[in-house]
Amino acid sequence: MILTITFHKSPKIKADTAIVAVFKDNRLTASAEKLDRLHGGIIKHHLKKQHKFKGRKDQFLVIAAPRDSDYARIILMGLGDPDKLGNETCEHGGGRLYLTLSGASAVRAQFFMDEEAGKMTAEDIAARIAMGVRLRCYKFDKYRSKPKKEDESADLETLEFVTSAAPRAGAIFSNFEHVAAGMFLARNLVNEPPNELYPDSFARIIRDELTPLGVEVEIFDEKKMAKLGFHAHLAVGMGSARPPRVVVMRWNGGGKAKAKSKQGPLAFVGKGVTFDTGGINIKPSAGLEDMKLDMGGAAAVVGLMKTLALRKSKAHVVGIAGLAENMPSHTAYRPSDILKSLSGKTIEVMNTDAEGRLILADSLTYIQRTYKPRLIVDLATLTGAMMVALGYDYCGTFVNNDDLWAKLDAAGKESLENLWRMPLHESYKKDMESKIADVRSLGGMGRYAGACTAAGFLEHFIEGNTPWAHMDIAGTAWIGADKPTCPRPGTGFGVRVLDRLIAANYE
Ligand code: BES
Ligand code: MN
Ligand code: ZN
Repeated sequence: MILTITFHKSPKIKADTAIVAVFKDNRLTASAEKLDRLHGGIIKHHLKKQHKFKGRKDQFLVIAAPRDSDYARIILMGLGDPDKLGNETCEHGGGRLYLTLSGASAVRAQFFMDEEAGKMTAEDIAARIAMGVRLRCYKFDKYRSKPKKEDESADLETLEFVTSAAPRAGAIFSNFEHVAAGMFLARNLVNEPPNELYPDSFARIIRDELTPLGVEVEIFDEKKMAKLGFHAHLAVGMGSARPPRVVVMRWNGGGKAKAKSKQGPLAFVGKGVTFDTGGINIKPSAGLEDMKLDMGGAAAVVGLMKTLALRKSKAHVVGIAGLAENMPSHTAYRPSDILKSLSGKTIEVMNTDAEGRLILADSLTYIQRTYKPRLIVDLATLTGAMMVALGYDYCGTFVNNDDLWAKLDAAGKESLENLWRMPLHESYKKDMESKIADVRSLGGMGRYAGACTAAGFLEHFIEGNTPWAHMDIAGTAWIGADKPTCPRPGTGFGVRVLDRLIAANYE
């Protein structure tokens, strides 16, 4: 059952559960006061008889409704200090609210929320809580032959926000729904197993998902790739029985005029390694099963295109997904091979497990030479070193342009996808020069600064002064433990921050 979330000025559904917000020290909101009065003081009675629930953020109290009530239960949601209320508190609280509702077997719930607090308007509070609920209700159960008991016992069907700010909250949230749809597509792709999701099937899914929405999709098979010169990318796929693909996605949101304007489109490049064994430099056994997630960058680009199309963005955007499976075999590429990339630069392969940068190099060149973009953002689960540095909570972002960084930083804060600026330094780039070819795929420092030297390698493939950002999403594309707004593992990271970047600056 897909959860429906609505906003109305007065109740429209017959709900089994009423929800009201409570601030710290159990200060009731106006809606909570009203509900309390209508129920003969039961909320205040319960608050007095217990001492654990104090209206702190992330606290919930479930109260059985009295016999004559229309509801079976009333849920109090703590929001903490009203002066400190922010987007994160609301969204994380929304995620936890979803779990509380499921745990209480709520099916149709009604949230009465009328107040503004701190810097937040009533419509922001309602829409952000709703987004938290939406992001947390994601499920990936297509591979279960029958639903799990706990999944079927408590499926929330409807959540209705009753608020005087309903029209504005609804407008904000309908945009959020498009973002969530793009994120869910990205999560689904990341969660797919690699026997089902491989370069060709991935390319077909992209075509089937995006074409009906008005996105132009172009697929290059291995022959076309060879003709165009994607030899670095092709080398990565050589060891696999499943040949590589490149998928180009175009969204001409600005109409013909914008498509032809001198400014060029916004370009997004995603690493799509559907399974990364490491190749001949094979990875150790532990954790290898995680390497189905090595296409998270491509998934984010596809999800972003979906969001842009759904909300009919006015921007002119081109996305590219570089797809391959990195396998060891007698046809695999080897460490010490020298490849001729699409750019013409030769690359000495130092380690076949540093495959993502080879794929990105060709796609970066292709998109620059074909589309003359006004900016480029690439997303890639590129290095374990990035995870060592920042873990699951921040995405290391390398940017060659301060203005673009300022925009990304603002978009990150707004969208709650955390970015942290990482250094691009001449020394990292220099370290990637080879003794016998133009560049080499590993630096001389081994694991040290691994995320930075990877970025330094990519920098060799950025032409002119094009503003460019490289987002290493190795740690953020999936999570090892559930988060308030995401059941593990695929997160859909990147869709939301880049949609925000575009909405705030380029349409
Ligand atoms: N896909 C991996 C990076 C990765 C590791 C992502 C763990 C998520 C979790 C990438 O292709 C890789 O293997 N990188 C190597 C680079 C090394 C050979 C320079 C790494 O991080 O060890
Ligand atoms: Mn690898
Ligand atoms: Zn990889």
